[in-house]
Parts: sequence; structure tokens; C-alpha cells
Amino acid sequence: MQEFNFFLPTKVYFGKGTLKKVGEETAKLGGKAMVVTGRTSARKTGILQRVESSLKKEKIKTILFEQVEPNPSFETAKRGAEVSKREKVEVIVALGGGSPLDAAKAIAVLSTNSSPLEQYIGQDKVKKPLLPLIAIPTTAGTGSEVTKYIVLTDKKRIPPHKEVIGDAHLFPKIAILDPELTLSLPPSITADTGVDALSHAIEGFSSNRAQPLADLLALKSINLIFRYLPEAINNPYNLEARSSLLYASFLAGIVIAQTGAIIVHAMGYRLTSEFGIPHGRANGILLPWVYEFNLSANYSKFALLTRELGEKTENLSEKEEAQRGVFLLKSFLQRVNMPRNLKEKNIKKDKIEEFAKEVMQNKRKLEVNPRKVILEDIIEIYEKALSGKE
Ligand SMILES: [Fe+2]
Repeated sequence: MQEFNFFLPTKVYFGKGTLKKVGEETAKLGGKAMVVTGRTSARKTGILQRVESSLKKEKIKTILFEQVEPNPSFETAKRGAEVSKREKVEVIVALGGGSPLDAAKAIAVLSTNSSPLEQYIGQDKVKKPLLPLIAIPTTAGTGSEVTKYIVLTDKKRIPPHKEVIGDAHLFPKIAILDPELTLSLPPSITADTGVDALSHAIEGFSSNRAQPLADLLALKSINLIFRYLPEAINNPYNLEARSSLLYASFLAGIVIAQTGAIIVHAMGYRLTSEFGIPHGRANGILLPWVYEFNLSANYSKFALLTRELGEKTENLSEKEEAQRGVFLLKSFLQRVNMPRNLKEKNIKKDKIEEFAKEVMQNKRKLEVNPRKVILEDIIEIYEKALSGKE
């Protein structure tokens, strides 16, 4: 059997009602907390008030930082860290989707490590442990509650640019996964975030750094997303569907924490930073084309994925089974309302070339992609995905 290592230092609470653990768990880590969240939804849904009252019950002094925008900037994280240092905060409670969770991690980094934050871009550059962090996702997609990654946008660059900080220090101390918090998500966010999780699981499963335990989690995650994402879009208050999706995104987060993402994420970043396509949707547009491109690297493994999706494939060869997966993936993405192309953005050839050259700089994601890629491949994948033509 293949040799592997597996690391997940996060204590996890999963289940309906587990949000009430936040006060008690925070109290074990310190007496002064900063809740980091987005600008509106946590308050509007009443989740923020529930967190505050749980903290109050344990007599924890609480500061709110409700300033995280979608695709948060380095500046937002710096502003948050100024508050946390000034107020001598001892614990960070991150509440929201991927954006507040990632911004909170960056605030926790800067609260104990020297500035500037930009010096930590890349892998394994964070020197000291962060402030202890409790992550409470309110979407089922990011997986950030169990990953060692932060994605921030450099908004000083024109056009804005996404940067990744990866370091084992970045795993949250505690993750509280309460599916009730995801019940009020609108269908479009449910779909986009669910497809982000699907992309994490498929990318991790495809990766050169894939390993037996992560594969097991990835297959389960993919299976659950195929089964429950359409249901959660159509019946948002179906708690079983919501629980299964939150569990699936958590599993997919564990997967990418071990394997990293491949070129889907690398290619998607600019579609988000320059054309405002939500992160998960950008991945959803690219995913089937990258999947198809990568098939020849390992037909038998991709055939396994087709079988996991319950397809009867008795008379097919492994190669045909693997190819059947592309069809299943495309039809699923249509069922969950992913666009079939990005024609309306009218992205020009020179833009595609610029994006592709940048992807070629992302050595880390290229290295783990199962099939070797050259610039022309990336251009071709972009062209197919953006036009939707086979
Ligand atoms: Fe993602």
C-alpha cells in the first residue's frame, strides 16, 4: 500500500445545535474574544447574536469585527489585527463563509507574527503559532475550518490578485459545524459553495499528492454532494440535505489540506478577481474540462469515481468508464445551475493568454496536477470552458 502521512490537529464538533459549544470552548482558550464576520448576514440571520449570548454566558469579553468583505483584502486583515492587538484579544472566533474564515485566520497570524502579512505568501513561512481560533462555517463549501490555507486578494494590484498562504499553523484549534446555520442560505450561494466543495474533493482525488485516506474522504464527499446538493437548492430547509452537505464540505476540506488543489483553483482565481464570478462557480465552469483533460493520467482511478456515483458500467472498458464520469459531472453541474459557458463576459483571446501565463507561474498547483500541462493546454481548457464548446 502507498505510504502516506495525514495531519489534522483541529478538534471538531459536528451536529445540529453544536453552535452552543462556542462559549464553553472559547472560555478554555482565553477571556477576551474577537468575533470576525462579514458585514451583514451573520447579524441578519441572528447567528451572530447567538454567538454573542453564548460567549456572554461564559463571561467572555467580546469585540466584534464585522468588516469582512467577499474575497477579503490584505488591508481588511491588517485592520482586524490592529484591533485585536490594541484590545489584547486572546481568542478569535471566525463566523461565516470562506471569506470571514480566511480573514480571521490572517488576523490571528498578524496578532502574533510580525508585519507585513505579505511576507507569509507561499508555503510554510509563518513563524509563530497564531492566536487560538474557533472556526464556525455558515456555508457548506470552503472547508477552511479544517484547512491550513488562507486566500486573500491583493486589491492594490491592477487587476486585483488572489494570493495563498499555506502553513500548518493555520489549522483552526476548533471547528464547530452546525448544519442549522446553513438553512437560510439562498439557492445560488448553496449551489456555488457546494460546487466549490465538489471541486476540492475532485481536485484532491485527482492530485499527484492523493493518498488512500484522503481518497476515501473525497469519494464520500463527492457522493454526498451529488446526492444532496440539488435537494438543498430545491428545499433549503431540508436539514438532512444541509447536514450532508456541511459534512461533505468538511471532508473535502480535510482532503485539500492533505493534497492541495490542482489547476482548477489556479485557473479560477482570475475569473473571480477580474470578472466577479463567485469562487465556487468559477471552479464549476472549469472543473469538467480540467477533469476531461486529466483522464488519461489515470483511467482506472477516474473509473472508480464513475462507479462511486452509482453508474452501471459492466460493458465498458476502464477508459470508457472514466469518460462516462465527464458526462455525469457536466450533467450534474447543469442540474445545480452552473453556467455552461462565460460567453456573456466576452473574455478576449489576449486576456485568456494573460491568465494562462499566470497559471503557469503557479508551480505548486501545476506540480500536483496529475497530467503534465503546458501553456497551450491551459489556453485550450480556458477556451473550451468559456465558450462551452466541446
Ligand atoms: Fe475553493
